Amino acid sequence: MDKAGLYQKLEDEARSRTAGERNPIANAANFAALMWEFLPDINWAGFYFRKGRWLVLGPFMGKPACTRLQVGLGVCGTAVAEEKTLIVPDVHKFAGHVACDAASNAELVVPLFKYSTIIGVIDIDSPTVNRFDAEDAKAIEALGRLFVLRSDEIP
Ligand code: SME
Repeated sequence: MDKAGLYQKLEDEARSRTAGERNPIANAANFAALMWEFLPDINWAGFYFRKGRWLVLGPFMGKPACTRLQVGLGVCGTAVAEEKTLIVPDVHKFAGHVACDAASNAELVVPLFKYSTIIGVIDIDSPTVNRFDAEDAKAIEALGRLFVLRSDEIP
């Protein structure tokens, strides 16, 4: 299956899994599992949620990760501070990258916007340099919008 087809399946599955469920923890857990199931060549996929100047670890698949990242630092913290998606072809060339899993070489971080506030990020890591492109970014941004839309219950 090509990348577009793969993301279509991932989004369809995410849509049906979240139908009728508005709890962010439950939905994030299933989104992480679906990204893990559908996306080839990744070693970590999950969520960090914003608490003031911190990003706190949420549901994920992969090796145990850093529980708290600071807004403004690392790839996740920079994506939040700059309010934009970051595609990092080689994390070892990204100043301040926070290494949680030594296997990670490329990273995609997508901020989750609720209205104009960032409530967290989706973070995906890959062992392959240059793994993520604009198509991945667009598809994960769409998944992020679906997550926010469907997860408005206070946990
Ligand atoms: N590499 C990230 C930290 C989170 S882990 O990759 C799961 C960063 O620099 O923000």
